[in-house]
Amino acid sequence: MFRVFRPSWQLGAPIVDPRPAPWHRPDPLPLPLVTPRTVIDVLLDDDAPGLLEALEASREGLLAWTPAARGVPRDEAGVLDVIRELARRRGHAHPEGYDLAIFDRSAARRVLGGTGFFSLDETHRQAEVGYWLRDDEQGRGLCTEAVGHLISSGFDRWGFRRLLVGTDASNEASVRVAERLGLRKESHEIRSRWIPGRGWRDHAGFAVLADEWDHDRHRGPAA
Ligand SMILES: CC(C)(COP(=O)(O)OP(=O)(O)OC[C@H]1O[C@@H](n2cnc3c(N)ncnc32)[C@H](O)[C@@H]1OP(=O)(O)O)[C@@H](O)C(=O)NCCC(=O)NCCS
Repeated sequence: MFRVFRPSWQLGAPIVDPRPAPWHRPDPLPLPLVTPRTVIDVLLDDDAPGLLEALEASREGLLAWTPAARGVPRDEAGVLDVIRELARRRGHAHPEGYDLAIFDRSAARRVLGGTGFFSLDETHRQAEVGYWLRDDEQGRGLCTEAVGHLISSGFDRWGFRRLLVGTDASNEASVRVAERLGLRKESHEIRSRWIPGRGWRDHAGFAVLADEWDHDRHRGPAA
């Protein structure tokens, strides 16, 4: 509760302003999330070969836009370490986010890409949604489908109030995903981010509130 104290000429009972409840981790996590063509879930140890294969198939595209991809290991043992580290972080009482994989619904645990909730802000019940899709599966609307359902679940089941997408402003595919999902463009930052090999880049911020989200268009979990 905030107590708002008024100046002496307005003396009286302090205004009590109820602080909105912070975000709490749903238990259990509402996963897996099944969409018509994908399954979104955490990565397990056995997914290491599939994740490595998907990353190798996509390294160029990932490196072009996602500086963090530089640190992604190039061998199975390294990828397994990453998966275990993500599991460890998920168990944290106040995680910074949830790294999830997008799997092919028709081919058990085939990794299509990644998504998740990042930069989690418990006080304001908001998080950033990230995404990547393997190069050879792009252009079929899979990312829009998976992320649309994840945002629906983010509001309905994870309890977020506001979800954001941040992207290099000239990453047309990523901007299109945010636009197709119906997110509102809220910022265009001039040369605010450094991408190795590309220099200072403009950054675009998109967001949507739970009560604005078109749940009919992005139906919740299909199963
Ligand atoms: C962004 C990304 C996930 C999109 O995956 P995808 O499965 O192809 O996405 P979708 O098919 O759902 O939609 C892509 C949209 O972008 C458009 N698009 C794809 N490549 C494009 C390009 N090079 N230039 C312009 N538009 C492009 C598609 O035409 C489609 O829009 P439309 O349906 O209106 O035609 C994928 O390109 C990717 O992984 N890129 C590398 C990683 C990345 O940039 N991640 C985002 C970081 S914020």
